Amino acid sequence: MSVERTTAAGGMETSYGFKSVGPGDKQPLVNDVFHKVANRYDLMNDLMSAGLHRVWKDIMITALNPPKSDARFSLLDVAGGTGDIAFRAAEAAGLGFQATVCDINSDMLEVGRGRAASRHLDDRVSFVEGNAEALAFPDRSFDAYTIAFGIRNVPRIDLALAEAYRVLKPGGRFLCLEFSTVDMPGLDRIYDLFSFKVIPPLGRAVTGDAESYQYLVESIRKFPKPNAFVEMMRAAGFSRASWQGFSGGIVALHSGWRL
Ligand SMILES: C[S@@+](CC[C@H](N)C(=O)[O-])C[C@H]1O[C@@H](n2cnc3c(N)ncnc32)[C@H](O)[C@@H]1O
Repeated sequence: MSVERTTAAGGMETSYGFKSVGPGDKQPLVNDVFHKVANRYDLMNDLMSAGLHRVWKDIMITALNPPKSDARFSLLDVAGGTGDIAFRAAEAAGLGFQATVCDINSDMLEVGRGRAASRHLDDRVSFVEGNAEALAFPDRSFDAYTIAFGIRNVPRIDLALAEAYRVLKPGGRFLCLEFSTVDMPGLDRIYDLFSFKVIPPLGRAVTGDAESYQYLVESIRKFPKPNAFVEMMRAAGFSRASWQGFSGGIVALHSGWRL
């Protein structure tokens, strides 16, 4: 699990893929991964998932169910990268919708800004550099908080959850889409084979970088199981915390409310 533990020396460790690292060491390594792959990130998502990431993201937007009217609705999409979730939400929502994409990586955000302009969504979707562990937004300022395939990259998940809770308005929705644990006999072996034997070489062919994709598949295995993550959400204060698995457990959508 990507949960911190205390070392003999009294410091805290977390995981960077299969390696144990100090929490201060993980973030620069993660940042390096996304700086290297930013320009090819969206193409790689389609290739790695055979387009399935689009279906999973649509499931998240259906759960979010932003108002179709012109009622004001503000979404914070953290670790939002190149903007996929914010764009999908904006396209599903009415005229009162505004999204803020927050990501720690300026290269991912730059790709996102270009995509927003070409989709004519730049008036409804803005991009802000920031860390999920310490958000620069006031308390109780958003109607919804989404994070897709992002939270496993954050060194201190408990801090990110506490920040999510803090910035949500009472009645606000938290949704987290993340890779999970394949629970279908047969599919688990094929999935492991594909993850470790196909994805890193594919990453090398498309982005020139196999190591980044080796980290990504390892980090999936280290992420807490859905029930453990739901417990972390409850510990952060979320009510009605629940999860649902999709595609044989490849991904899970976690939901909670600030009530
Ligand atoms: C796999 S990408 C997901 C991007 C997007 N949400 C999507 O679904 O396509 C993970 C993103 O998490 C961002 N990230 C990693 N650590 C972060 C942190 N501490 N705070 C905010 N964003 C972070 C990375 O920069 C990267 O853009």
